[in-house]
Amino acid sequence: MPHCSDCGSLLDVGYEWDRLPVPSSLREFEARWGLRNSPNDFSGVWRFRELLPFAPEEKIVTIGEGQTILQKSAAVAQYVGIDEKSLFLQYEGLNPSGSFKDNGMTAASTHANMVGAKLAACASTGNTSASLAVFASTARLFDVVVFVGSGKIAYGKLSQALDYGAKTLQIQGDFDDALSQVRDVCKKRGIYLCNSVNPFRLEGQKAIMYRVLEGLGWDVPDWIVVPGGNLGNSSAFGKAFLELKQLGLIDRVPRLAVINAAGANTLYRLYEQQQVKWNAGNFDRNVIEDFYTEMDGENRRARTLATAIEINRPVNLAKCLRALDVCDGVVRQVSDQEILDAKAQVGGGGFGCEPASGASVAGARLLQREGVISKSDRVVCILTGHQLKDPTATVAYHSSDENQTDESLHLAGVEQAPYANQPQVVENDFEKIMDVLHQFG
Ligand code: F0G
Repeated sequence: MPHCSDCGSLLDVGYEWDRLPVPSSLREFEARWGLRNSPNDFSGVWRFRELLPFAPEEKIVTIGEGQTILQKSAAVAQYVGIDEKSLFLQYEGLNPSGSFKDNGMTAASTHANMVGAKLAACASTGNTSASLAVFASTARLFDVVVFVGSGKIAYGKLSQALDYGAKTLQIQGDFDDALSQVRDVCKKRGIYLCNSVNPFRLEGQKAIMYRVLEGLGWDVPDWIVVPGGNLGNSSAFGKAFLELKQLGLIDRVPRLAVINAAGANTLYRLYEQQQVKWNAGNFDRNVIEDFYTEMDGENRRARTLATAIEINRPVNLAKCLRALDVCDGVVRQVSDQEILDAKAQVGGGGFGCEPASGASVAGARLLQREGVISKSDRVVCILTGHQLKDPTATVAYHSSDENQTDESLHLAGVEQAPYANQPQVVENDFEKIMDVLHQFG
């Protein structure tokens, strides 16, 4: 399903907008805010359904996704180095399965419903599988099998797939191996594939940007900063802004910053170092092929504590190049040290997030230091996943000394924990507990 039979590229959803009822202003969507009894109006994705008009209303599969918020954080703004009022955190961890994936999965589930799929599958670093599994367990329209790499998936995510009853295959390999297998299996068995190669997933993920605009009173920010893994999100964001601009619903597009983990930096290397640019769709495919040939030749594999984005071959690379073109984008890489420090700042100054999400704050900080983002720019960092998805990384960081990390972090190259909030061990004794409390002041 997801490929063009002529050129082999991933399919993209296109609309004949002139034949569709498009609102004349984004403010028109506000009329749905009061209709909380109607599931399609309550959904943070489908209340914008005129902007992803591929499904008849009665086929929509919604579980109340997208009740997420855009929050100011003075503490994180200070860490990033911009004005207190200019930094916004978009908490996608507040979705039903705890990550942004629910925005896309409601759209993929809806399409699966339209085509009458009885079995759906995905490969995942953990969040896609949790999301697909919760849609299957609640909507009960199809069964689900999820493919995960072995040993790489954070327990919070694995526990979700198991608890929601998804058949779970732990492939002895990494995410790229699992994705390659699931694509072949789905093709052979006619199973509905729910990875972001499925273009309907990206349609749903556009809604994250609609809600960001909504949160800003329909003003366009200067920057959107997002972690990059398989590049579905960044691709969807670019498509959202391209369409809104073409429809005359916004007058300018924000700039887009996609942040790789340094240990999983395919996009950074191709876009920033090797200058592979969209070029009206004629991007240099040879450079990309050579890059992958060398990667395989050297047996170079992605490695980062931000396991959600530990990906070698991002499947949406081409669409992401288009998004970077539309949004005058930049790509940066940040180390696991920077990711975990930024994550601790998000926890200390807000609702918290999982490691991969910390990359967006670390990336914004880097871009501010480089002078690419200025102090007065309005910056929105997308926090893609909930804090509780990966408690292992969080506890390891906070159990460390400022200058000497826990062994698991040390082995991964994270040497310091400057924002650690160590638990204190105290004897089971009233006076000793009182002594410790005195030290707190
Ligand atoms: N942040 C989190 C928390 C993720 O789970 C992912 C991707 C990303 C960022 C990257 O987003 O792929 O759109 O660039 N997780 C996928 C999964 C790969 O299987 O759950 P992307």
